[in-house]
Amino acid sequence: MSTPVKKVPIHLQSSQNRLLIRHGQVVNEDGITEEDIYIEDGIIKQIGRNLIIPGGTRTIDARGKYILPGGIDPHTHFEFEFMGAKSVDDFYQGTKAAIAGGTTMIIDFAFPKPGESILDCYYNYRQKADDKVCCDYSLHMCLPQWSEQVKKEMEILCKEHGVNSFKMFMAYSFMLNDAELYSAFEQCQKLGAVAQVHAENGSIIAKNVEKLLANGVTGPEGHELSRPEDIEAEAVNRACVIAKQVDCPLYIVHVMSKQAAETVCQARARGTQVYGETLVAAIGSDGTHCSHANFHYSAGHILSPPLRSDRNTPLAIMNFLAHGQRVFGEVEASSIGMSGDPRDPKLVTSPPLRSNSDTSTQLLQLLSSDVLQLVGSDNCTFNKSQKELGKDNFTKIPNGVNGVEDRMSVVWEKGVHAGLIDPSRFVAITSTNAAKLFNLYPRKGYIGVGSDADIVIWNPSATRTISAKTHHQAVDFNIFEGMVCHGVPEYVIVNGRVIVDEGNLKAVQGYGKYIDCPVFPPYVYDPEKVTELKPEKNGTNDEGIQNIRELEKLHF
Ligand code: URP
Ligand code: ZN
Ligand code: ZN
Ligand code: ZN
Repeated sequence: MSTPVKKVPIHLQSSQNRLLIRHGQVVNEDGITEEDIYIEDGIIKQIGRNLIIPGGTRTIDARGKYILPGGIDPHTHFEFEFMGAKSVDDFYQGTKAAIAGGTTMIIDFAFPKPGESILDCYYNYRQKADDKVCCDYSLHMCLPQWSEQVKKEMEILCKEHGVNSFKMFMAYSFMLNDAELYSAFEQCQKLGAVAQVHAENGSIIAKNVEKLLANGVTGPEGHELSRPEDIEAEAVNRACVIAKQVDCPLYIVHVMSKQAAETVCQARARGTQVYGETLVAAIGSDGTHCSHANFHYSAGHILSPPLRSDRNTPLAIMNFLAHGQRVFGEVEASSIGMSGDPRDPKLVTSPPLRSNSDTSTQLLQLLSSDVLQLVGSDNCTFNKSQKELGKDNFTKIPNGVNGVEDRMSVVWEKGVHAGLIDPSRFVAITSTNAAKLFNLYPRKGYIGVGSDADIVIWNPSATRTISAKTHHQAVDFNIFEGMVCHGVPEYVIVNGRVIVDEGNLKAVQGYGKYIDCPVFPPYVYDPEKVTELKPEKNGTNDEGIQNIRELEKLHF
């Protein structure tokens, strides 16, 4: 068995390997400071004021802008063969679009074909992706079946190939039953991996589908009817219960409804170690679009779990993403009146403004925040012609929507611009928490000395209008069509190289590389140690980063 051979990375031109970013507001999850950043050979080498740097270094003036850790999208499906179609964004166009939107790393879901072992699946994904990716990437492995062989190969993937997360399904024809979930979670726990679940009750959905089709409901509106909120919430609860039996940290992918988020909240309150990922689709769109008379339009919004027709969902989900303690403080602060606009980059310690409604539900949501820790895209794009597979039967509409390019802008618009979260929480939910959960922190998801120079220079005053006509994705539809977003990535730096330069995209196919995710992420498996591991922005960050770089040497 051999790991795919990694090509020699594209040589960085000497004029491009040194970069100084001046006068920006550096945003990390724990605060904002005005500092200069010096980058050399893809790594952040110095942070501070009045840095002494070599001559001939390119300088970017970031005055009035935020400097953010590049986004990490923890959930994509590039060139994924699913429901009789293949998603049209491949590893080239998908990662190129990601960078255009300010995302500098993606984690894709490797999904074994029928009869393919998970090990072969891993090799095949590496083969597909390595030469195409424009930014760094890692892989989660899907387990569409359970067996002793799967169990053995999970260990090989963890120990030899830097895969530290496995996704199990509770719906679709390849769902696992409760006993299989139990065994899979148990193995994840033993290996120090993160168990992920697609939480929907597949057996009940099948019964509902039968009934709906028999009653002549065949259009896209049948999709949510067949899988309502409680079908999602029940599975979330069941997954939490099972994971708790075997002490396995659990990551719920694509939390799409208020009920599911409330269930995550309750499980957390009971001491279950569960993390919630929601999708940009759940924040920037809703299920009312799925009952539109135009088939292409409604089918374009179909994914699972579905967008919810309850129009309060996006705001509720955003509140579930807000940060617990800060929000608690805000509830009190709001009674004495608050000042400070989180959109103002000059504001160093900006208290986040909150929406004014003080209904009990809103307070509950606020108090129970930090229920969800990340926003992914679940980018799984099918063209209109592919969505037509389900023209006469909603169950045959290939499931999936876009989001990899627009995730950062939409979350900024609905979160920071709307006054619900501050820029630091934005960084946490779009980058840092993914880096922590999958053990890439502080190499990724952090702006500090020693970290990879994956950086976005974000202009909070500029706007752009989302459209399928102008996006960089391969797909011919965009669920955020027409949305005006404040917050534009003017420069996107990927491993030290300026790929978006004053808004112009110059992506390089194959420039990205596979990144190992070591097992036993301390944030998940050893939360107490995490406080000691807290990186120093101006220090070296050696301890946290060494780990990952050592592992990499085994491969390349
Ligand atoms: O509808 C979706 N979410 N498509 C992608 C596959 C999955 O379950 O994540
Ligand atoms: Zn590896
Ligand atoms: Zn899923
Ligand atoms: Zn997905």
